[in-house]
Amino acid sequence: MKGLILSGGHGVRLRPLTYSQQKQLIPIANKPILFYCIQDLIDAGIHSIGIVVGPNKEQVISEVTAQDWDAEFEFITQDRPGGLAHAVKISQQFLGDDRFVMYLGDNILLGGIKGFVDDFRRSDAKASLLLTKVDHPEQYGVALVNEQGKVILQLLEKPKNPPSNLCIVGIYCLTPEIFEAIESIKPSWRGELEITDALHWLILQGRSVTYDLVSGWWKDTGKPEDLIDANRLVLDALPGMNGNGACLENVKNSTVSGRCRIGKNTVIKDGSVIRGPVIIGDDCIISNTYLGPYTSIGNSSVLSNTEIEDSIIMEGAAISNTERIVESLIGKNVTIERDGRLPAGSKFVIGDNSNVTI
Ligand code: DAU
Repeated sequence: MKGLILSGGHGVRLRPLTYSQQKQLIPIANKPILFYCIQDLIDAGIHSIGIVVGPNKEQVISEVTAQDWDAEFEFITQDRPGGLAHAVKISQQFLGDDRFVMYLGDNILLGGIKGFVDDFRRSDAKASLLLTKVDHPEQYGVALVNEQGKVILQLLEKPKNPPSNLCIVGIYCLTPEIFEAIESIKPSWRGELEITDALHWLILQGRSVTYDLVSGWWKDTGKPEDLIDANRLVLDALPGMNGNGACLENVKNSTVSGRCRIGKNTVIKDGSVIRGPVIIGDDCIISNTYLGPYTSIGNSSVLSNTEIEDSIIMEGAAISNTERIVESLIGKNVTIERDGRLPAGSKFVIGDNSNVTI
């Protein structure tokens, strides 16, 4: 089987971050979301992966190719975000006659996809979807199923009156029959070729479309709060974190407790308190600072006289003398310094290269 990861689109709901960064490259626990998708495919035994790229495609290509993966990549340029089915259509030459897994590059799933993909390898279904129960199905693709046969009866994209609370997770096992389906559908009201419509077309043709249910957590990281939430979930599950890990010799007059991963050449000093789960990148200087649970700090950040909790701080941050920063998403190379104004307890969504004085 092959893999197809969708890493295009404008990421409108994540502006201003996505003016300068492709959304699938935003880090969760200091690793781009896209890398979790790639690893899931590799762990499921898939080593030939197409990545659909759009705006900022150079960023995606350079970040992916800078790593050593047990996979070969082909980058497929999508000239406009024409929809998930459009992305599949333009990838037909790469996919050929193989069955494949399509993975939306902003989705993150605990526990990987091996079981789901193995089930599909053994079946003769024409497509299989991962589904999960959600509180607001109208925000997603929705499936009506026959639980006995584990088959899908109806699929609708973001319906006003959802027929069930089972939403489509952004990971699909597909066969080349999807190309015929895509040729048979028209763009939706939002002007996109919807994969949901193509799959529904297969069902109407009597072809078998099955499903598996997600057992752990799953996140579509479309909005800032989803990223903060995903960061919590990944830090909670990150294995092998240990306050006694490498670089503890660089902890001076400070306390590190709970599960913390501290990068190379990072110095923690002057009465700092780090309470995990926390991840700190390489080459950081943390002085007289409190870092509370569920915080990720990117490489080369300098933090002094500050408090940060439950936040994603990307690389190159310079933060000093602030009140406690909570539930914040801070882009690359951001400077935040306090000038003493109230109220305290700030909340930020700030793009790359911003400068903030508070
Ligand atoms: O996350 C699950 C949901 O994903 C499903 O429940 C929906 O049925 C499915 O349509 C999709 O809905 P979204 O509205 O969340 O899709 P979005 O436009 O955010 O695109 C998903 C990913 O695919 C995102 O990483 C951007 C990328 N993409 C999107 C489009 C429209 C592309 O690479 N090319 C595109 O043309």
